[in-house]
Amino acid sequence: MRASINIIFLGAPGAGKGTQAQLIEKNWDSKPLATGEMLRRISSNMTSDDPLPAKLRQIMAEGQLIPDDTMIELLQQEIGREKYKNGFILDGFPRTEPQAIALEEMLAKNDLRIDAVIMLTAEEKALCERILGRVFCSECGANFHTSLNPPKQEGLCDACNTKLERRKDDNLETLRKRLDVFHAQTEPILPYYKEKGLLTTIDGMREIAQIAEDIQNTLASIRK
Ligand code: AP5
Repeated sequence: MRASINIIFLGAPGAGKGTQAQLIEKNWDSKPLATGEMLRRISSNMTSDDPLPAKLRQIMAEGQLIPDDTMIELLQQEIGREKYKNGFILDGFPRTEPQAIALEEMLAKNDLRIDAVIMLTAEEKALCERILGRVFCSECGANFHTSLNPPKQEGLCDACNTKLERRKDDNLETLRKRLDVFHAQTEPILPYYKEKGLLTTIDGMREIAQIAEDIQNTLASIRK
């Protein structure tokens, strides 16, 4: 029987957060909420008079973080949607301590809480190889890698047959900035979740399926 759970995935760019969130979804009623994907959707609006899409595009292209107040407001709107009523698998949020605190307050108002925080670790050389070969489906959000995790048909999404694309921020220069930002701003929130007894660190250097099995076992033990 499937069940609801509220999970956070943490990890550097390319650690496998999105890949694992999509695999874990199959075993739970909870739905993935990837803030990078949400921001790319908002920022793809090229015609609006609202300055937000252009601002998001610029910050993301620079590999920097969206300011906390903007990010918290956007997350609050998104997480309130009907699709997350049975739980969420957060991929990309929180990334700073103010975001972690805001999330906890947001959930507490609705009598909700985080059940588990999964930190995926991987070596920097592997992160670069993964990011520089990643292709994704803009239609359903599925992730592939040209050599490490190739789609069945070259250039096409396995799930919906859409032509696969590369992300604009998946280049070496921006990746270096994203990695610096991760170490400076996101890694420092690990003690916050460790102190709450929510943090599990998982070795993300193995096969995708093996990592998914480990995560599933961790979550199942929490739900016992
Ligand atoms: P976001 O989209 O969240 O990017 P990221 O954190 O840099 O993470 P990635 O999506 O690059 O990596 P991933 O860990 O999901 O790896 P994946 O599974 O795809 O954010 C983008 C930008 O948005 C940020 O830079 C920031 O500007 C902004 N933003 C987002 N959230 C924000 C927030 N909360 N606050 C402020 N700003 C925010 O895997 C990568 C590749 O590796 C794939 O090709 C996959 O097939 C392959 N792969 C995965 N696992 C394995 C494995 N075990 N072995 C071999 N290959 C693997």
